[in-house]
Amino acid sequence: MSTPDRDQNTANGTGFSRRDFIRGSGAAMAATAIATSTVEARADDKAAKPNVKPAEATEVTLTVNGKEHKLKLEPRVTLLDTLRTDLSLTGCKDVCDTANCGACTVHIDGKAVYACTRLAHDCEGKKITTVESLKDGDKVDPVVSCFVKHDASQCGFCTPGFVMAVRAFLNSKPKASLDEVRKGLGGNICRCGTYHGITECALEMAKGG
Ligand code: FES
Ligand code: FES
Repeated sequence: MSTPDRDQNTANGTGFSRRDFIRGSGAAMAATAIATSTVEARADDKAAKPNVKPAEATEVTLTVNGKEHKLKLEPRVTLLDTLRTDLSLTGCKDVCDTANCGACTVHIDGKAVYACTRLAHDCEGKKITTVESLKDGDKVDPVVSCFVKHDASQCGFCTPGFVMAVRAFLNSKPKASLDEVRKGLGGNICRCGTYHGITECALEMAKGG
């Protein structure tokens, strides 16, 4: 028995079989699908990456520890990054960078503030004080000596932030009670658990020690 050839299977004898037709339309559909998905992918890509130009760095003058610094910064830069990177004031630590730990505490116009939550440009015209200001030659702020006396530091990573928090707290409440000390320092975290020493230090100073 002979195998039917292509001509025998065509309706009009042109040599174009049903199988050829199905093969051809399958390929066309696949090509259309690929083309469509490429166009969609490009559209998605455009949507994911809008044509946003980086903001330009502009001039800002920051007053830190009594000195004026003229800087050129992008608007997105935080005070913490500026202090550490541009001014090499690395006492304030970058730990959580999300306003959760207090390691970056500095003073702005006398108030304890998380430097990671402030944009540098927003601090123009304000008085910024960092932990470095608590040392003048051989002299250190009494809070620093009291931390040493009460062994209120282990790894030390939270310590500069805590020292600044204690200093600001005692400036505003020099005669604080134990409860007030605990509440007043609640914005700072110590992973080494030196809370007892820090509380003792703040209390001793509140009692005039
Ligand atoms: S680094 Fe700013 S609060 Fe933790
Ligand atoms: S001393 Fe280590 S985190 Fe506080």
